[in-house]
Amino acid sequence: MSIRILSTSPLVGPALSQLGSRFPDLRIAAFRSPEWNAALSEAEALVVMLSEPLTEADLAAAPKLKAIGTYSVGVNHLPVKACQARGIAVVNTPGVLTDATADIALALLLALTRRVAEGEALVRSGNWKGWAPDQLLGPGLSGKTCGILGSGPIGQAFARRAWALGMTPVFWDRSQEGGVVDFGAGQAPRLPLAELLAHSAVLSLHCPLTDQTRGLLDRAALASLPPGAVIINTARGGILDENAAMDLLASGHLGGVGLDVYEGEPRLNPRWLQTSRTVLLPHLGSATVETREAMAGLLCDGLASSLG
Ligand code: DGY
Repeated sequence: MSIRILSTSPLVGPALSQLGSRFPDLRIAAFRSPEWNAALSEAEALVVMLSEPLTEADLAAAPKLKAIGTYSVGVNHLPVKACQARGIAVVNTPGVLTDATADIALALLLALTRRVAEGEALVRSGNWKGWAPDQLLGPGLSGKTCGILGSGPIGQAFARRAWALGMTPVFWDRSQEGGVVDFGAGQAPRLPLAELLAHSAVLSLHCPLTDQTRGLLDRAALASLPPGAVIINTARGGILDENAAMDLLASGHLGGVGLDVYEGEPRLNPRWLQTSRTVLLPHLGSATVETREAMAGLLCDGLASSLG
């Protein structure tokens, strides 16, 4: 038996089936199903989703493996160092989900501050009694500072959106180099984290989950945000201390939290479901048709290069 490609999904669009025609045999089997487990030892390339963590034990069980492709830009669910040590290529999808992810962060920010979900629920409930001066008020955004964690393409794309809303973007990134970031519509300073947090009415996360960013927004960091600050996370759950965020929402220190990603997703800390001033999405950052097709194309091109 020879399996060139073992994927847990057909992906969106034709790219994977075209790759399978070029490099037969392609198997599609659910992650860790008996069929997937049986095929692992013969696979030359794996395709997994961001919700399907692979381990070093999986690598050991796959002696023919040449490449792992993930249908995501994030690679925090993969044993990257062990792959490097064994010469296994890791293929991800940078560059093609920039705008889609920045858009979902913007959607969370506007939904949260303009109370879109609560307004929609009120209308659908049939209990709306009409316009009222103080109905569902939220904070305005124009003129406020927007702290952005991560100065890569997605952070910059979000900065352009914040700038278009009249906000002032400022960046922190892992280089901690200072200087300015040219985000395409202007330049914004790269600040030390403490300084950025102290001034950010909105804080949006656009950095990868790494050893350096895990737990970056701990209780003390969150408490140093200005009163009423709003947090948007479309990056990864482990960067934000979710329990601390919920405590600070309950105390009124934070004004709102909008999440597309969660620690341990798809299981949610059950407290989120009871916490008001939140908007909770099911990891939709890259979920446009065009983006998912482009991700599949990029991923399959990368795997084709690795399979030769
Ligand atoms: C990714 O691809 O890593 C993003 O989280 C998608 O939203």
